Amino acid sequence: MKILITGGAGFIGSHVAEAALTRGHRVTVYDDLSSGRREFLPQAEALTFVLGDVLDARALDKVCVEGFDACIHLAAQTMVPYSLAHPQKDCQINLVGLLNVLEACRKHHIGRVVFSSSAAVYGDNTALPLSETEEPRPLSPYGLTKFTGEGYLRLYSKLYGFKNTCLRFANVYGPRQGAGGEGGVISVFAKALVKEQPLTVFGDGGQTRDYVYVGDVAEAVLDALCLDGFNIINVSTARETSLLKLIDAFSEIAEKKLKPNFAPARAGDIYRSILANDRCRRLLGRTPATSLREGLAKTYRWFAAEGKELSK
Ligand SMILES: NC(=O)c1ccc[n+]([C@@H]2O[C@H](COP(=O)([O-])OP(=O)(O)OC[C@H]3O[C@@H](n4cnc5c(N)ncnc54)[C@H](O)[C@@H]3O)[C@@H](O)[C@H]2O)c1
Repeated sequence: MKILITGGAGFIGSHVAEAALTRGHRVTVYDDLSSGRREFLPQAEALTFVLGDVLDARALDKVCVEGFDACIHLAAQTMVPYSLAHPQKDCQINLVGLLNVLEACRKHHIGRVVFSSSAAVYGDNTALPLSETEEPRPLSPYGLTKFTGEGYLRLYSKLYGFKNTCLRFANVYGPRQGAGGEGGVISVFAKALVKEQPLTVFGDGGQTRDYVYVGDVAEAVLDALCLDGFNIINVSTARETSLLKLIDAFSEIAEKKLKPNFAPARAGDIYRSILANDRCRRLLGRTPATSLREGLAKTYRWFAAEGKELSK
């Protein structure tokens, strides 16, 4: 396949690009490098990098002229606190940017899109583990733009026959993750650990998340390119891990007992999060398989070797 990946120089995008090359696809990455990095991408004959903004409809149009079999749309404003402070900017990038991508796809007959949605669409719905049929109740403009984005993908399937899949990622972690976006706590801890700085826990440390390894997410994204119709699928482990358990696992990996500093809980943080993954197993034939221990070890090794200076 010939695949366009927006946001392909980012944390998740660079793993998707790498996995796509491994599967023998040709890849064009379209990214403005606002948080992504050119050096996250391999030098490969089958990979083309285009510097561009999803808000630049003309530039997108120019890229799509060459024709693609599918588009993986990952470019986004990814920070929940930023979306609360700047809801217009969040809406512009996450919705106008998405529409620019969908319209370029429509014009150039790219009838297959995989979209990175998020566990943030569920917001304060507490029917754990959350399945895709649960009511979305976003708690932030970011969660709302992801939920609304899904609506546009549904509409483009209905109106124009697109084969569209929205993947609701749980908290993704792994090498190359910045500290700013979602799921950043593992990268924050890994970076603090290699710099021998103290770990800070906001709240009592009992809060849980469903941490999914980025390599597994990349495979799910590529598997989703084979689906027909319109789909919404959680990409998760269906397991919850508390911050204190995460610190215990890091203690084992770093071979030293880590004692965190506790700070007051942050307003608006949900306490528990787990996404069901039965639909993922049924439609994609497998679920994320990397164990937390293995994924954390890979993440820690990467930060120790390369990530010390990563500032964003
Ligand atoms: N990391 C997670 O845990 C997680 C969870 C759920 C959903 N997501 C979604 O997955 C996608 C990838 O997230 P990530 O964690 O890799 O973040 P990231 O910041 O590393 O990647 C986003 C990429 O998009 C690019 N980008 C941002 N704005 C752009 C614009 N206007 N035009 C072109 N490129 C632009 C950035 O330079 C970056 O390379 C995002 O859509 C995010 O909302 C991530």
